[in-house]
Amino acid sequence: MKKILVTGGLGFIGSHTVVELQNEGFEVVIIDDLSNSSESVLEGITSITHKKPIFEKLDLKNKAAVAHFFKSHSDISGVIHFAASKAVGESVENPLLYYENNLNTLIYMLKYVLGLQESNFIFSSSCTVYGQADTMPITENAPVKPAESPYGNTKQIGEEIIRDTCKANQKLKAIALRYFNPIGAHPSAKIGELPIGVPQNLVPYITQTGAGLRESLSVFGDDYPTNDGTCIRDYIHVVDLAKAHVIALQRLLNNKNDTNFETFNVGTGVGSSVLEVIHAFENVSSQSLNYKFAPRREGDITSAYADTEKANSVLGWEAKSSLHDAMDSAWKWEQKIRNL
Ligand code: WQD
Repeated sequence: MKKILVTGGLGFIGSHTVVELQNEGFEVVIIDDLSNSSESVLEGITSITHKKPIFEKLDLKNKAAVAHFFKSHSDISGVIHFAASKAVGESVENPLLYYENNLNTLIYMLKYVLGLQESNFIFSSSCTVYGQADTMPITENAPVKPAESPYGNTKQIGEEIIRDTCKANQKLKAIALRYFNPIGAHPSAKIGELPIGVPQNLVPYITQTGAGLRESLSVFGDDYPTNDGTCIRDYIHVVDLAKAHVIALQRLLNNKNDTNFETFNVGTGVGSSVLEVIHAFENVSSQSLNYKFAPRREGDITSAYADTEKANSVLGWEAKSSLHDAMDSAWKWEQKIRNL
């Protein structure tokens, strides 16, 4: 049974990926510093798969602790690296926190991965690397544009660090998965998104409004050049996204990669506006959502949705769930954690 390290494995996407790895028979070791997650997620994972992952509470900036960890886990066959700070607004206020946390820890991780028997690395990247792309849908060849935030910049620089390290070390095989907008929760409603404080992202804000935790949703802008004036994004079910990580890892473990650094867009290929997401929520919850239009949010782009051809034909993965399915799982999760 191959052992896989998942950094940030108690986070939203990380925890769903751990479940899918265990479902595929991998032994999973999680490192998480619990700065944006809780140890209760470990119980959620275990209650789904009936296999408790090894968990080490570790700050990846603590070099001595990381060195000690790899001494006792030298048989790791692959690393899926989620651990990073990911709040766009916070990154604008505190860029050095983001450059230190997201880039230094990536560099340490790569150094240790290079010292393993097998050096297989999956990197959590983001469609933010494209900025506002010129054409839709967005392909992997779309030009990388100046990042809209330090958070987005750490994803761009992160990919460059990995690309250069792969070029200098043929033994390192890496895939960067460029996520579009992950939403939803595991169908068991035992794990899901746990935003701390006021949610920055649309879907958790919608479900918290639906649950009565928030007065009303502010729709940031109704004057964009889109059908209904609201921004368009590619909302992908988090379980579909998790499965993409397992398939990407297996591609490397089985030496199916074409080059030793590959990038894939991971989205549904379908663009949905903010109003369409609201209507999907109203359909699944059979209740109307309280929302009002507000000024545009600084840094938002008009439209982003994926060209999924490469992921479908080269990676051999495609999203199975619709926006409706994802919203249904998000609402069920919200009701579960609020005991509604
Ligand atoms: C989606 C749309 C908002 C909240 C960000 C990061 C990306 C990834 C996902 C980390 C936009 C609108 C939102 C609200 C709203 N994060 N909105 N009212 O900005 O596309 O992507 O989160 O990996 O890297 O950039 O996602 O959910 O914040 O916004 O109207 O209360 O919903 O304006 O059009 P975004 P989002």
